[in-house]
Amino acid sequence: MAVMSATNPNNDYPIYAEGLMRHFGDVKAVDGVDLQVNAGEVFGFLGPNGAGKSTTVRMLTTLLRPTAGVARVAGFDVVKDADQVRRRIGVALQDAAIDPLMTGHELLALQAVLYGIPKAKVRDRSRELLERVGLTGAADRRVGTYSGGMRRRLDLALSLIHQPTVLFLDEPTTGLDPMSRLALWEEVRRLNAEGTTVLLTTQYLEEADQLADRIAIIDHGKIVRQGEPRELKAQVGAPTLVITVPGGQLDQAREVLRSFGELRPTAEGSLGVGLSAGAEAVPAVVRSLDDAGMQVQHLELNEPSLDDVFAEATGYRLEGAASASGLPQAQGAEGGTGKRGRKRGANETASGAA
Ligand SMILES: Nc1ncnc2c1ncn2[C@@H]1O[C@H](COP(=O)(O)OP(=O)(O)OP(=O)(O)O)[C@@H](O)[C@H]1O
Ligand SMILES: [Mg+2]
Repeated sequence: MAVMSATNPNNDYPIYAEGLMRHFGDVKAVDGVDLQVNAGEVFGFLGPNGAGKSTTVRMLTTLLRPTAGVARVAGFDVVKDADQVRRRIGVALQDAAIDPLMTGHELLALQAVLYGIPKAKVRDRSRELLERVGLTGAADRRVGTYSGGMRRRLDLALSLIHQPTVLFLDEPTTGLDPMSRLALWEEVRRLNAEGTTVLLTTQYLEEADQLADRIAIIDHGKIVRQGEPRELKAQVGAPTLVITVPGGQLDQAREVLRSFGELRPTAEGSLGVGLSAGAEAVPAVVRSLDDAGMQVQHLELNEPSLDDVFAEATGYRLEGAASASGLPQAQGAEGGTGKRGRKRGANETASGAA
């Protein structure tokens, strides 16, 4: 049995971690993470590929033992009281393995039995959840024939079978089309409005901006920013001026821009600078470039976004972050290829059932 310590105020947080670590040999996947997620919050967990998001989620959901540190979820220690934790949480993992030969309904029924839901109620519960995630029509189809979006919705339904109070969603919308993404956001909002505390990891900054009350950005296993999106954006302060000049003039233009503020990462082929004097500096920048004989092909001023917060915190832009040019992201501020701007490997995608 868990010892619910009345003297430990940290039991009040549905998700609490202190100095949480997980090392794999030399790889410090998670390297001292502190988290305090409040009841009823949607908490966004952001970071580049390999930052340690899934490893953190695995520890918080009792699937992986921490190397060091403590974590409590729903008031229980994830190591000592793993059973108690499991009973109270729902988890939709990034790489959940699902038997492709089973139907959606069969999988939900199996999950219901595993969670000890009385037999008489299994059918109703499965039907209710399929309805909730919009899969009623596909209930008796084999999961192997589901689209990626349908799979993610089924993952969500599976995680909800026992009405968890704390829900962990690891990249719930990766690979979804915009419509499916919006539908999933709606569902997360609805669950949250019903009182479920949600921690979700995401590659999509807009998603975090839309859904999360607070966010944490993790990089190299450490949390580098934490707070409300609004407050983090305000900290970035200066708006970003993004310019495009002919390829041969990039280096020269970079030198000019440096005198107006710090360079910021942008899409390949363009340059970004955080204007330390604010938007008023734009004419002066254009004049300086003009004086140096450079031809500005495109110019755009962006107010601080979560994308800027992320770039400032990690030095990288995420793939899929809004890009004016539509060019690939994940470029370092100096224009070099971001070493971690790699595409996600096949083994890291939510494995589609074959
Ligand atoms: N079982 C493992 N054995 C060895 N290394 C691992 C293992 N699991 C994760 N890692 C390493 O730990 C680091 C963090 O991985 P993790 O999966 O937590 O990242 P992530 O933030 O979820 O990334 P992604 O955005 O790609 O899902 C990576 O360097 C990864 O290669
Ligand atoms: Mg991951």
